Amino acid sequence: MNGQTILVTGGTGYIGSHACVELLTAGYQVVVVDNLSNSKVEPLRRLEQITGKTLQFYEADIRDKKALTEIFDREPIGAVMHFAGLKAVGESCRQPLSYYHNNVYGTMVLAEAMAEANVKQLVFSSSATVYGESTSVQYVEDFPLGAINPYGRSKLMIEEILRDLSAADAINGAQSPWKIALLRYFNPIGAHESGLIGEDPNGIPNNLMPYVSQVAIGKLAQLSVFGDDYPTRDGTGVRDYIHVVDLVKGHIKALEALQGEKFKSGGCKAYNLGTGRGYSVLDIIKTFEAVTGRKVNYKIGPRRAGDLPEYFANAELAYKELGWKAEKNLDDMVADTWNWQCKNPQGYV
Ligand code: NAD
Ligand code: UD1
Repeated sequence: MNGQTILVTGGTGYIGSHACVELLTAGYQVVVVDNLSNSKVEPLRRLEQITGKTLQFYEADIRDKKALTEIFDREPIGAVMHFAGLKAVGESCRQPLSYYHNNVYGTMVLAEAMAEANVKQLVFSSSATVYGESTSVQYVEDFPLGAINPYGRSKLMIEEILRDLSAADAINGAQSPWKIALLRYFNPIGAHESGLIGEDPNGIPNNLMPYVSQVAIGKLAQLSVFGDDYPTRDGTGVRDYIHVVDLVKGHIKALEALQGEKFKSGGCKAYNLGTGRGYSVLDIIKTFEAVTGRKVNYKIGPRRAGDLPEYFANAELAYKELGWKAEKNLDDMVADTWNWQCKNPQGYV
């Protein structure tokens, strides 16, 4: 609904900042809340430059109930896109309590503040990491769930909490029931085509794409390919990479669906956001070299603990129910990553 005000938690982060661009472009008003624990305010200035529009920013922690209540009192918020959270798998194994506190407790406080303000439309950043062991490499939303690390479990717990909230409304016959979309992302990469906003990881990147692009630009010496003895077509890990702009367009479609016929009586529903196609680590390296003309120096290293050989999305449900599908291909993802990297070799400094 154009003109409606959307609260974007984690809006200064990688995906949240791209979501703000899409929301502003689609005519929504945007209020961002972020504690800047893994981001800077600079992307907000840049996304205002991209869109020619302004937004309202609050530096606050989603665990701070008083701060959230004040924001809901002050702003005419109609729905929430909830990106705020910690996301590093390795760190979550070393500091599980901070992940549960930040992600799970943070979402509970947010949901309480929302319920008190009678704002009950929520689009949540979940992850393909919530899927349990599966015999198929193409994940469908009704597959069994079961995460294998504290980060993944924090996402799974949040999904369960949100499903319980929605079920309680059904039991209690709530007048304005919760309407919740759990969006399970596969591997978001790329950047806005302007090269003004993109992914700015702290220190050495954990994830493949930012690592590859920092090797290509000469910031890092060599990529280690985590294993080439997996039962995949070239022995390296296969994932479903999705352009961040396609991903955030999926959020707008989900928001529209929450306000439409399908969610008229409320509900909580999960949707995969992926392309439905898997690429190997070697595919990524080759495409990167072809699109940028740069050599990616790499060696084959040992497997990384906790990595699965291969998985990708079945994205049919999002197409059927949200009218969304990814449009951009791997060349686009690489070209936009490289454009961002070249224009911002030191990130948001
Ligand atoms: P990001 O770290 O760039 O953005 C998250 C933002 O949330 C940051 O700006 C951070 O400062 C903020 N934040 C963290 N804790 C907060 C708190 N307690 N209060 C207020 N702000 C807080 O990460 P991202 O890649 O943009 O991811 C966004 C969401 O998507 C996260 O919830 C993440 O778990 C989820 N997700 C990301 C990926 C991915 O590959 N990037 C994949 C699946 C799911
Ligand atoms: C990882 C997380 C996942 C999280 C996602 C987004 C793990 C085990 N999984 O997914 O929970 O939702 O990031 O934040 O951390 N690779 C290399 N060399 C590298 C980096 C990666 O070969 O330096 C390989 C990996 O083995 C994998 C592929 O590249 O096969 C993609 O890795 P990555 O970008 O880290 O994403 P995931 O592991 O899929």
